Amino acid sequence: MPDKNFHIITFGCQMNVHDSRWLAGALAARGFVQTPLEQARIVILNTCSVREKPEQKVKTALGRVQSLTGGDPDVLVAVTGCVAQQLGQKLFEGNGQVRLVAGSDGINDVPGAIERLLGEPRLRLSLLDFTSRYVEREPAGHSRSHPVAYVNIMQGCDNFCAYCIVPYTRGRQKSRAATAILDECRALLGQGAREITLLGQNVNAYGRDKSGDGTSFADILAQVAALPGLERLRYVTPHPKDMKPADIEAFSSLAPLCPRLHLPVQAGADRVLARMGRKYDSQDFLDLVAILRKTCPDLALSTDIIVGFPGESEEDFDDTLEMVKTCGFMSAFSFCYSDRPGTRAALFPDKVAPERKQERLLRLQALQEELSARWLNDRVGQKTCLLIETRSPRQLGGEGETLWQGRDPYGALAHVVLPSGADHTGRMVPVVITRAGKHSLSARLEGDIW
Ligand code: 5AD
Ligand code: SF4
Repeated sequence: MPDKNFHIITFGCQMNVHDSRWLAGALAARGFVQTPLEQARIVILNTCSVREKPEQKVKTALGRVQSLTGGDPDVLVAVTGCVAQQLGQKLFEGNGQVRLVAGSDGINDVPGAIERLLGEPRLRLSLLDFTSRYVEREPAGHSRSHPVAYVNIMQGCDNFCAYCIVPYTRGRQKSRAATAILDECRALLGQGAREITLLGQNVNAYGRDKSGDGTSFADILAQVAALPGLERLRYVTPHPKDMKPADIEAFSSLAPLCPRLHLPVQAGADRVLARMGRKYDSQDFLDLVAILRKTCPDLALSTDIIVGFPGESEEDFDDTLEMVKTCGFMSAFSFCYSDRPGTRAALFPDKVAPERKQERLLRLQALQEELSARWLNDRVGQKTCLLIETRSPRQLGGEGETLWQGRDPYGALAHVVLPSGADHTGRMVPVVITRAGKHSLSARLEGDIW
C-alpha cells in the first residue's frame, strides 16, 4: 500500500470539521492521497473535548484503528486537536502506532511533521505549544471550492465560562489579520464559493486582543459582505454579551448577511447564568433578542443549552423552558452538563444526578421539537431562495427530474426537484416552500435559476 494514503477521523464542532478539511487539502497539496480507513497508512484523529467522554471516544477510535490494521507498526497514527492538547504525550503510552500528537495550534505543522515522521520511523513528535499570535496556515491547494465555504477569523477564547474547556484546549483568543481573512474569502469566491461562514469561538470579540489590527467584528463583517460574488454571509459563534449595536445593525444594513443567528443562551435562570460566568442575565438576553428582531423581523434564532449545570434546581430548569418558549428558537443543540477537567464548574459541589439531567434533557428536547416543527410549518407557502449544495440522497420518481438539496437564507435544509442533465451545485434557486417535514422542507422551483 502506498505510504502516502491517509484517512482523517473527525470528532466535534464546525471548527474541527474545518481544521480537518484544511489538513486534507494541505496533505493533498503535498502529494498525499485521501483514502478509506482500510487503505490508509496514515490515520489522523482530529479530536474534540468540549463534551461527552472525549478521552473514551479517542481510545475507542485508536483501538478500532489498531484492530483494523492488525497493529501494523508501519501505520502512522496522529492525534490532533483538543484531546491531544489535553492529554499530550500520554497518548504515546501503550500504543506504538501513535507517533504524533498535535494540539490546537500545532495542527498547522502537522503536514510537515508527517513528512518528517515517514522519513524517520523511530521518531515520535509532539506539537503542543500555543502560539502567541494567529499563525497563517499553508494553502490547502483546492482548485474549486464548495459553494458553502468556512473561513477562520480567530482562534481560542478568553471568556472562561465555568463549564468550558475551550480556553484551555484552544488557548487564548487570537484574531486573524483582516487582510488574510479578506484574501482567503476572495480566493474562495474566485473558486466558486457563494456563501461564506466566518468561524471562531467568540466571533464578535474579534479584534479585541493583542493580535487585533484595529478592525472590529462589524468592520470585518462589512468588508467581507462587500466582496464581489458573495451571495450569503453567516457567522458562528457569537457571545450574547459581545453583541454590539453595530453587530445588530448589520442584520439590516448588509444585504448578504443571512437572517439567521446561532446565539447560545446556555440557561434561562439568572442564578445559573451567573454561576456559569456568562456575564448576562435572562433579561439582557431577552432584550437582545427583542432588538435583533426589531432590526431584522424575520431573524431565525438557534441556540445551545446546557441542562443540569451544578446547582440547577427544578425552578431554574423551568426558567430555561420558559426562555426557550419566549425566544421561539428554530432549533437548539442541548446537552447534559458534564465535568471538563480543569474548569471551575468541575469543582462545584452541587452536581445534578445523571437521571435528573437526562430527564430534563428529554423534556427540553420535546419542547424544542415542537417549536422546530412549528417554525418549519410556518414556512409553507413562503417564497425563498435555495443555495444548492448537493444532489439529495433521497430517491425520486419523475423522469427527467432529479432531487437536489440546499439551504434557504435561514439555514433550513430544503429539497427541490430540478431538471436532470445539469449540475446544479452552487446554483441559487428561487422556490416556494410546499411541505414541512420533521427536520427539513420540500420546495418547488419557481423562477429562473442563477
Ligand atoms: N457540558 C455540557 N455542555 C457543554 N458545552 C460546553 N461545555 C460543556 C460541558 N462541560 C456546550 C455549550 C457550548 C457547546 C459548544 O457545548 O452549550 O455552547
Ligand atoms: Fe467556551 Fe464560553 Fe468561550 Fe464559548 S464563550 S468557547 S462557552 S469559554
